[in-house]
Amino acid sequence: MTSTAVTNIGELVTNDPAAEDLLGLHHDAALVVEGARVAWVGPAAEAPAADEAVDAGGRAVLPGFVDSHSHLVFAGDRAAEFAARMAGQPYAAGGIRTTVAATRAATDEQLTAHVARLVQEMHRQGTTTVEIKSGYGLTVHDEARSLAVARQFTDETTFLGAHVVPAEYADDPAGYVDLVTGPMLEAAAPYARWVDAFCEDGAFDADQARAVVAAGAARGMEGRLHASQLGPGPGVLLAAELELAAVDHCTYLTDADVDALRDSGTIATLLPGVEFSTRQPYPDARRLLDAGVRVALASDCNPGSSFTSSVPLCIALAVREMGMTPAEAVHAATYVGARALYREDVGRLTVGARADFVMLDAPSHVHLAYRPGVPLVAGTWIGGRPVLGRAADA
Ligand code: NIG
Ligand code: FE
Repeated sequence: MTSTAVTNIGELVTNDPAAEDLLGLHHDAALVVEGARVAWVGPAAEAPAADEAVDAGGRAVLPGFVDSHSHLVFAGDRAAEFAARMAGQPYAAGGIRTTVAATRAATDEQLTAHVARLVQEMHRQGTTTVEIKSGYGLTVHDEARSLAVARQFTDETTFLGAHVVPAEYADDPAGYVDLVTGPMLEAAAPYARWVDAFCEDGAFDADQARAVVAAGAARGMEGRLHASQLGPGPGVLLAAELELAAVDHCTYLTDADVDALRDSGTIATLLPGVEFSTRQPYPDARRLLDAGVRVALASDCNPGSSFTSSVPLCIALAVREMGMTPAEAVHAATYVGARALYREDVGRLTVGARADFVMLDAPSHVHLAYRPGVPLVAGTWIGGRPVLGRAADA
């Protein structure tokens, strides 16, 4: 098995849960990788010999970003809708149907090529684990093929047949929920680890979301929800009651929502790309953190409400607009994102973890927020192999 020592690391973020500081920082550090795993972490001067060496030149090294919420399987874009919003139109969940029409019309090859391009875009920005949802097919065939496409890129696939009621079921939403919880779920199950529902006015109510999560659970899928994106609603309490891994958006929260999140341990995944792109108020991460709620950050990359694949952008927005410190935001986009996917092998650089890491063209993680919009990722490694940067090009 080949070993590689990454030496001369100015700042190493380990996210070691046993460390006294949130990020488990080491300075003047080295990281030794054996095969796909982290084999050693410590002072550069004490690094054991390895087959190959990478000189970090004093740069920062972080766990790769864990983007726990994206919708990459789609066709078309909605730039005109974005421009209309910037001219004063509000965001509405119904825009999803525009993308559904384009996605149904696309071939499998077109969808696959499009996801490949977006995943590569994510690697360039330091993401090493991505969750990908269906939800723009909304027929048995189109949801199953969306998930089959997603599965080519990640094990973290999510069935989101309950994204919105498609036009052909406008007069029969109950019939659509029966389809989602029956034949559509059956067709999706071989390709989906997770089940999700958009619990919001204009999408699905609490009873419908509960039925979708229960049907998925009966088929062995873990649940997660979209909730409280456009206004307060019942989805956050439902997610907490069901002790789901995560509930995502959490832009409009009542005090009872916050208490329930704290008590259940359900992670609140905040998606600031959405508020950037819809001109809604940003979620209050400070309120959640101060209450003891676990907070993750993710891109929500999708063509309607957040067409960014950039976790660094989300970190910068979370720091500037949502009251997070740079350390909290980096932790939320790595360690907590991994926990939102029930993963312990990623989101950290401790011995035994997968060697998924990012080298920044900067001396510390703070630069991700301090230098917004700057392409700081100098290299990305997944499972110990470079996928971006000089080592990858060699
Ligand atoms: O996470 N909230 C629901 N789904 C997406 C929006 C999808 C769209 O507008 O196409 C979201 O924001
Ligand atoms: Fe989403």
